Amino acid sequence: FIYIKSYGCQMNVYDSNRMKDMFLDKGYKLTNNIEKANLTILNTCHIREKAVEKVYSDIGRVKKIKANNKEMKLVVSGCVAQAEGIEIKKRSPSVDFVVGPQSYHQLPDMIKNSEKVVNSDFLQNEKFKNLVYKSSKLSSEFLSIQEGCDKFCSFCVVPYTRGPEFSRPVKDIIDETKKYTENGVKEIILLGQNVNAYHGKSDDGKSKDLAYLISKISEIDHVKRIRYMTSHPRDMKETLINEHANNPKLMPFLHLPIQSGSDEILKKMNRKHTVDDYLILVDKIRNVRPDIALSSDFIVGFPDETDKDFENTMKFIEKVKFVIAYSFTYSPRPGTPAQYKDNVDHAEKKARLAALQSLLTEQQLEYNKSFINKNVEVLFEKKGRYDNQYIGRTIYNQSTFINSNKKILNKILNVKITNSTNFALECQT
Ligand code: SAH
Ligand code: SF4
Ligand code: F3S
Repeated sequence: FIYIKSYGCQMNVYDSNRMKDMFLDKGYKLTNNIEKANLTILNTCHIREKAVEKVYSDIGRVKKIKANNKEMKLVVSGCVAQAEGIEIKKRSPSVDFVVGPQSYHQLPDMIKNSEKVVNSDFLQNEKFKNLVYKSSKLSSEFLSIQEGCDKFCSFCVVPYTRGPEFSRPVKDIIDETKKYTENGVKEIILLGQNVNAYHGKSDDGKSKDLAYLISKISEIDHVKRIRYMTSHPRDMKETLINEHANNPKLMPFLHLPIQSGSDEILKKMNRKHTVDDYLILVDKIRNVRPDIALSSDFIVGFPDETDKDFENTMKFIEKVKFVIAYSFTYSPRPGTPAQYKDNVDHAEKKARLAALQSLLTEQQLEYNKSFINKNVEVLFEKKGRYDNQYIGRTIYNQSTFINSNKKILNKILNVKITNSTNFALECQT
């Protein structure tokens, strides 16, 4: 039996799915009960200190379970494995194997040969060539098309944990998409730390951008919906904006992190774009697709962030109106340039985060309320907690609940919204 826990971003979920497929192919069975597992994989995240603390506390828990289950092997994979390598084993001897995000295809061999640590070499396409691709879900699949990042924002560990930017060839992505659609999948979510920097090669040897890739994927009949994340404002090209105007399979939702609404802070973050650059982009996109749902990420309490800087972030949010956004207090990370200064008081950070989140929740609530009594298309993806309850997503990516005694799983239906909260909609057919 194999037990896998995924921390952090969707790319880690994708990697966890691949590890699962790889071990199921080798005869393992998946379990949700860690006590039964012979192999436990913690697929970790290094993005903020809290994420890493969670991993070490879970390792402590697994250690206790291992005391009663001597056969169990513990693997730490993902971004903490890449960042800390052998140090993890020094700190926690109960860890048997450490493997980075570019090397986990070697895991079965590592286990066979009792090799303890493999990471740090960014082999890029080597991994993708050696993975197993099956569908874990009925309706919607993540698909990593791009990995790594060359942007080096001053707060961020990703360029160090995932390595330099790399794009997979177009054909490999098309082939993988078809494997999922053969299993009934209708929605493909293209993933990359910097997905709109995609520049993979096509068969003619030329490098192609994300808009081209999306148009190619949309030619596959069984693909009904395409999404992508995460985008960087500097890589939001005209071709991609046009694709939003012209491709009905490309969903009207865009996750475009800005991090701060203050130019001073953006400069210190090494984001290489201004607030105005972002606002111009928003105008362009709304011009061709007025109903597009915008989402973003924010960091509050970045070094030297003043009350004025924070006010500018709040004003910026009021201006743009996001349908959802993720926000965090700044966490200094080892190896990053910004780590040496963490001079915003902890309580002040918390207060700013609370204010920002309450504004975002208000916007979300208002947005979702505007759907009541309106019709919208929903792809129903899974069963809910109650009998006859199903959960799906609107074209704008809102979570939507329905009570129905019809067979509606994996169907795209035009439904009427009857009720809403800040995080979900209710509907009827
Ligand atoms: N590639 C994406 C983000 C990847 S990390 C981008 O370019 O925006 C996801 C989010 O975590 C970031 O958008 C940022 O808001 C947050 N984050 C990253 N490093 C952080 C840090 N050191 N402290 C707090 N939040 C951080
Ligand atoms: Fe990190 Fe910046 Fe790259 Fe996003 S663009 S992954 S925040 S370095
Ligand atoms: Fe975390 Fe690595 Fe993703 S640090 S956010 S798991 S790229």
